[in-house]
Formats: sequence, C-alpha cells, structure tokens
Amino acid sequence: MRAIEWNQKQKTLQLLDQRKLPGEVTMVVCEDQHQTAEAIRTMVTRGAPIIGITAAFGMVMAAYRAQAADVAGLRAELQEAARELNASRPTAVNLPWALTRIMRIANVSTDATAQLCERLEAEAIAMAEEDVAINKRMSEHGASLIEDGDTIIHHCNTGALATVDWGTALGCIRMAHEQGKHIQVLVDETRPRLQGARLTAWELQQYGVPFHIIADGAAGHFLHSGQAQKVFFGADRVAANGDVANKIGSYMLALAAHTNQVPVYSVFPFSTVDLSLANGGLIPIEERDASEVLGIQLKGQPAVPAGALARNPAFDVTPQHLLSGWITEYGVIRHPFEANLEQARRTAE
Ligand code: MRU
Repeated sequence: MRAIEWNQKQKTLQLLDQRKLPGEVTMVVCEDQHQTAEAIRTMVTRGAPIIGITAAFGMVMAAYRAQAADVAGLRAELQEAARELNASRPTAVNLPWALTRIMRIANVSTDATAQLCERLEAEAIAMAEEDVAINKRMSEHGASLIEDGDTIIHHCNTGALATVDWGTALGCIRMAHEQGKHIQVLVDETRPRLQGARLTAWELQQYGVPFHIIADGAAGHFLHSGQAQKVFFGADRVAANGDVANKIGSYMLALAAHTNQVPVYSVFPFSTVDLSLANGGLIPIEERDASEVLGIQLKGQPAVPAGALARNPAFDVTPQHLLSGWITEYGVIRHPFEANLEQARRTAE
C-alpha cells in the first residue's frame, strides 16, 4: 500500500493519514484542491517529495472541478488553486516545484479544456512514477556508502511515507539491508511530532531492519562513543551552495557527527534543490503552533506547567561544510557542491 493513491475513475486522491500512525492505518480522501491544501497543512501527509506530488494531484482536481467555460478561464482557476496549495507549507521546495511543472503545461497547452485536464492528470501520474524511480536510483547510490556492520543514525521520516514509494535517506538504508548488509539503525525520535518514533520505526519494522529508537539528545553520545558510523537524513530545501534545510534537530545532529568525524549524508532528489537561493539563510523556515511542543503528555499528565510558552521551528539549516556528501539521483555529490552537482547532472544526461 502506498501513502498516496490517485483514483482515476473518481478523480479523487487518497492519502494515508500519517497523524494516526502507528496506531491506526486509515486513508483520508481529498475531493478538491481545498481539501488537498488542508491535508498538507494539517500534516495528514508530510515529507518533501510526497507534498509535491500531493499538490500536483490537487491541481488535477482543481482542473476537473473548474467552472470555467474556456481554457483562459481554466488557467485563471488553476493559478488560484496553485496559490492556495503553495501557501499550505512553506519550507519544502518540492511543493512550488510541482505546482510550476503543472502550471507550465497549463500555460503552453493548445488543448481544449477537457483534453487539458487529461494532460494535467497524465503529468501528475508521471511525476508520481518518476518519484519512485528517482528514489530507487538515489538509494542505490546511498547504499553503496553503507558498509556491512554499520550503525546509522537517521533523523525524521524519509521513507516510503514521505515519498510516493521507497524513500530517500531511509530508502538507502532499506536498500543496504536488502543487499544483505548487516546494519543497525538508531532512530531519532524527532520531537515534537515524533516522525522518527512513530513513522520511521513503523516502516523499519515492516522491512525487518534492526533498530532502536533513541531520544534526539542521545545521538551525541552514540557519535562520541564510536557507536555510530554514519548519519543519514533527507532535505526539504537545498540552497545553491549546498546548505540543507531539514527537520528541526538535523543541524545539531550534523554538528555532533562532524565533531566526531562521523560522515553525514543528506539524501534528496534534484527537485529539492533551489538554485534561486544562494545559501541556507534565505530558506523560509516554518514555525508551527506551540501546542505541538506544549501538548506532550507523560503518563497521561501534561508534561509542562500551565501557561508555559514555547517556540516551534519545524526545520533548521545544516551548513554545507558539515556534510560529507549529498546523495541525489545523479550520484553522490562531494565538495564543492555547486560545481560537482552540475557535473554529475551533465554526466548522467
Ligand atoms: O515536517 P515534515 O514531517 O514534513 O518534515 C519532513 C522532513 O523534514 C523530512 O526529513 C524531509 O522532508 C525529507 S523526506 C524524504
């Protein structure tokens, strides 16, 4: 089962409700772009690649449900839908990337409205299938860096749940396991929404990969005491210089790994690179509701005093010098990032 399924007959989108995992496996059905934007905003679905594909299908539903009588009117409605979907979450660049790709077709097509809807649908389906193929390519590159006997620290959730299928950083780990390498994973629980403890642990159980969940703050101990050989995480947006925005806590993890000479890899498709931003300081960082931090309970009791305040940035930026490499569908990119990424892309094409 995938975390995202397009119903071609009904023209509706089914999303696995990731807020309810691991306790409940239920699907949410989106029937239009408004419900799709809400599903992204409330994190029914989450993870940079799947957010992009979800938004693409949101555009397809906007096209099929449009009131417009002609192509010009349809384009205007699509533009409005793109604005709404784009506002649902700010950090993952895969969202505007997907909307731009759909809008490009809408803007250049000479088709009538009905054919245009079909073209947009075909494009979204192709994007979903491309995502799976890209994840498998990245995972092969990433798995080649993982050695038999490695213990890997992984942050957030970057698996099949965060993509159409297979995953990015977790995909590399899964691939290494399927290649017969004996590996262990230390799963950062990833406060405050616990994507590691809830989602990554749930996925690893299904793949049969041995793991232990650790408190985020424990990672430094494992790195310093020589109990972890690699760090793998994903990316939500990568600046032109190789700075990586990813789930909050990635920066501290990379700092601790770098200080202890443990290699850190960020794994992402090229659609996560934002060449328009010179460095990570320009990446918009989502700040989510304080209730995500304050609402945590311990043995059924509130964990914080009534009236306490909290800050809740959902992402942070890992400066490029802390990374040992960037794993993309074009291969493992080493320093200097910008030149080598371009070189790898040219060689692959
Ligand atoms: O807030 P989330 O759960 O959407 O954040 C997800 C992450 O930070 C992932 O690590 C990132 O999107 C890479 S997913 C392949």
